[in-house]
Amino acid sequence: MMRRGYKSKSWNGSKDCSVPLLVISVGLMLMLVLVVVFVVFQNDDGKPNFAHEIDDGQKTSLAHEIPQQKWNSFDSVVKLKPTRETRNGTDVIWQVPEAPKGVLFLAHGCNGRAVNFWDRSPECPDCVGLPEERLLVLNALARGFAVITISSAESCWTYHGKEVLVVRDIIKWFLGKEKLEKLPLVALGASSGGYFVSLLPTIMKFNSIVIMIAEGMFEKIDIDEHYPPTLFVHMPKDLHRQQKIDEFVEILKEKGIAADVVECMEFPLSPNILADRVPGLDQSLSQRLFEFFRAEGFIDCNGYMKKDGRVTKWRKALQEKKTFSVDKHLIPHIQEELNLAFAYHEMTSVHSDKMFKWFESHMS
Ligand SMILES: *[C@@H]1O[C@H](CO)[C@@H](O)[C@H](O)[C@H]1NC(C)=O
Repeated sequence: MMRRGYKSKSWNGSKDCSVPLLVISVGLMLMLVLVVVFVVFQNDDGKPNFAHEIDDGQKTSLAHEIPQQKWNSFDSVVKLKPTRETRNGTDVIWQVPEAPKGVLFLAHGCNGRAVNFWDRSPECPDCVGLPEERLLVLNALARGFAVITISSAESCWTYHGKEVLVVRDIIKWFLGKEKLEKLPLVALGASSGGYFVSLLPTIMKFNSIVIMIAEGMFEKIDIDEHYPPTLFVHMPKDLHRQQKIDEFVEILKEKGIAADVVECMEFPLSPNILADRVPGLDQSLSQRLFEFFRAEGFIDCNGYMKKDGRVTKWRKALQEKKTFSVDKHLIPHIQEELNLAFAYHEMTSVHSDKMFKWFESHMS
């Protein structure tokens, strides 16, 4: 369980980045002391022990939240080459890696679609390849999970009708067709997809699930000790959801079901972040956008988004400025990364390592 002192940190409104004189003078004195200590306590290799430790500690706490994987980090490991079919009236897109060890169903959120998980290609001309979605797929394939994505019938998933049965039938058909029935089956759903994924184990067996930026339907469904291990990945800025999740984790644990939480925190934008995460967005555009966000006051002096990406009127401001333009295909991709940096409600692949460790530690 990773819980940091989040509430004490001010996140609504810009951070105060001005440095008072007192801090500067105290800082200078500290530096002087450090230099003296450095000279006195030097190691054989010339590196002071303590400074090394302090440095590492600070790096891991922030590095934890700043996306590390680049859009092309998996180029030498795995390529996206999905297969697509219409099934039970909806769009189904999947890929099976060599020697699969498990099967992952990925459920999008409201207004999402299966095409968002896969890159545009001659085989899938209307695929979108949103940065977080595609990285989730690449992480899964690289770790040996077959991935199946399905579009909801309406803009959000429905929880009371036959849609759960449709998805169950599609997954069963896929497992049979690809001869994957014997492998562990896991699911990850974000937002509306998270509620939906919390329902699926009531009608078919899953080895474990990840519910992202959603608390699940645990007030509505009957669960027993056979319900799969459940990991909540959420953004604690969304306080209401955080409270619900805390409640549901306790309910699950009382019933003997493994449950845990991974929290996703805000991170500062940097001039390269968009080029690093979005296929087809080059360094120069990434830097211009960063400068533009700063000049327009959308980010504070430390690079943190002041408001959610959806509320920030960056597209309108960009149109009015007319100094440079952005290919309209890239807008949803940029939007997603801005939402992610603000960390209130967005699909995220940042903690893929923890999510897949959850799956991998509950395979049998
Ligand atoms: C999905 O399609 C299959 C094959 O056509 C059909 O047998 C099944 O009943 C359908 N499922 C639902 C829930 O409509």
